[in-house]
Amino acid sequence: MKVDGVAYRSIWREGDGAAVTVVDQTLLPHRFETLTIATVAEAIDAIKRMVVRGAPLIGVTGAYGYAMALAADPSDANLASAYDALYAARPTAVNLRWALDIVRAEMEPLAPEARAAAAFATADRLHAEDIRTNETMAAHGAALIREIWEEKGRSGPVNILTHCNTGWIACVDWGTALGVVYHAHDQGIPVHVYVDETRPRNQGASLTTWELGAHGVPHTLIADNAGGHLMQHGAVDICLVGADRVTANGDACNKIGTYLKALAAHDNGVPFYVVLPSSTIDWRIGDGVAEIEIEERAPDEVTHISGIAGDGTIVKVRLAPKGTKAANPAFDVTPARLVTGLVTERGVAKASREGLVALFPERG
Ligand code: MRU
Repeated sequence: MKVDGVAYRSIWREGDGAAVTVVDQTLLPHRFETLTIATVAEAIDAIKRMVVRGAPLIGVTGAYGYAMALAADPSDANLASAYDALYAARPTAVNLRWALDIVRAEMEPLAPEARAAAAFATADRLHAEDIRTNETMAAHGAALIREIWEEKGRSGPVNILTHCNTGWIACVDWGTALGVVYHAHDQGIPVHVYVDETRPRNQGASLTTWELGAHGVPHTLIADNAGGHLMQHGAVDICLVGADRVTANGDACNKIGTYLKALAAHDNGVPFYVVLPSSTIDWRIGDGVAEIEIEERAPDEVTHISGIAGDGTIVKVRLAPKGTKAANPAFDVTPARLVTGLVTERGVAKASREGLVALFPERG
């Protein structure tokens, strides 16, 4: 996607170099800066500090980090320990494990001296696949938006509510739920997006608004608690969210607050779709509420808020009294019964084991 007329990806490798460049998401929307990652330690740090974030991007960054680890030490011992270190960087997005599993499986049979170059090639392949997958998903999702527009008699925009950031900077390019929005907008379908602020890190307020603005998509920022009210009053035609992990039963784990939006959508008859690449499906588990370990993040993300001061510095200010105890579960699980459909690169599936297996019969 373009920033000030220049086409960017969220992560890229210059030629055959052993480093990658990423967009530093901790500075957006205030400053657009890039950062070079040249070691596995830097890759882990970038994932932990959310310099890079969003399930598909975490996966691709993990793959490049793994390649950097093997460039430093391609031994069997490091193949195992670098996997563990990267895997521990963030627990929820299954795309990380998916990418690390692919790199490890492809590197294991190789002689150590062949591993570094091969691992970078594998990471490049996952990078390219992510772009293709998102573009295909976006086309499937845009067909749903078109249907709604036709049902409305092509009158007014299709009002979409979204949560967190699911755009090109959360993936390599395009995005998941926002990829659908971009595709529909680019096809000339009038869309308007209600953007949940997405406390505590405010990915909606900071990142989604920045992306939509840059792409020229009409949008309105709302407080997290406003969605139910808007749905009750017919202001939302469809909810589109991404996911960090979807179980084989179709339960969707996504940014905290997604479940409440799904409940409100269900109560008001608003279609609720989750947009995800198949790398986000955790085929090993069924019941997401019982089986997904939810990342608990630092309490100061809740007790404080970040913003920009008049002099342009990014500051963190306290909201709660000193010493206030805060809990910060970063994700929640929306049970499949509340999900209208799962938009994947193979098409739209019912949120159920049968629905997913119909699209991915090799998993049946
Ligand atoms: O904690 P984050 O910002 O990494 O969480 C990201 C999300 O929850 C996104 O909605 C998600 O990764 C899905 S689609 C890119």
